[in-house]
Amino acid sequence: MAISGKTKSITPILDGKIGIVKSFDTLTAGDGAKKDELPGKGELATRTTCNVFEFLQKNGVPLAYIGRDGPDTFITRICNMIPVEVVVRKIATGSYLKRNPEVQEGLVFKKPVIEFFLKTSGRKFEDTELPCDDPMLRWDRKGSVCHLYFPDRPHEQGHICQLLYPLQEHSSLKRDLMTCERIARHVGYLLGKAWEKLGGALYDFKLEFGKLSDPKSEKQIVLADVLDCDSWRVIWEGVQLSKQKYRDGDKLEDVLAVYRVAAALTDKFPSMSV
Ligand code: C5P
Repeated sequence: MAISGKTKSITPILDGKIGIVKSFDTLTAGDGAKKDELPGKGELATRTTCNVFEFLQKNGVPLAYIGRDGPDTFITRICNMIPVEVVVRKIATGSYLKRNPEVQEGLVFKKPVIEFFLKTSGRKFEDTELPCDDPMLRWDRKGSVCHLYFPDRPHEQGHICQLLYPLQEHSSLKRDLMTCERIARHVGYLLGKAWEKLGGALYDFKLEFGKLSDPKSEKQIVLADVLDCDSWRVIWEGVQLSKQKYRDGDKLEDVLAVYRVAAALTDKFPSMSV
């Protein structure tokens, strides 16, 4: 049976080891507060994700992705998802500016900034009630205790609580996220270079990771989910090639045009050398 989210579903096959990911034509923003149907978007988003994943696969990034299927579907390994969104920032924009108001928009980071956000829904993480969704995760200076912060406030005004995890799981979360960070930096390098070759600038993007459940894989951490216009901010020839256009309230036909251009440009990714 398919498990459906806001913009895609996954249907397990072959004893649940493999899944078919289907992208919908639905577009959402503001955690579902804004929602529209954009006929053709599911196919374009799938094409973009497949292009990006095949490029990353060729360059040694461990992936859940297996291969293309239909126009709006691809095949993936099913894994246990790590409940954290990993954001890579090369150029300062978006929510980073809310947490760091002293930073000028457009600042190019010497080394990409990596941030972690806990994935929550309805202001809940498992049984714990939270004052906001998707709080930021940060370890203390010693790196031993993890704290949650409001994602839209400077840290000194935004502390929520210590992440209440059993110690054992807590330390494995940190180890897992260090692995995610290493992979995310590699993806940032590759994707940045690829967009640069096409005349684009990658500002930031979000990744999600999972652990393979097959016993032979020894719970290897792999890049999972999707990676398309909904996940990044890219400026190409002065045009925002991402969902940001939708978040900013642009016309739906212009938003769809962005998905078309991104799919056509990323068609070049799988054969590109960086
Ligand atoms: O909003 P913020 O600046 O934190 O977003 C950073 C990057 O992560 C952007 O490229 C955005 O598209 C992506 N993102 C995402 N899904 C979210 C939050 C952010 O793909 N839930």
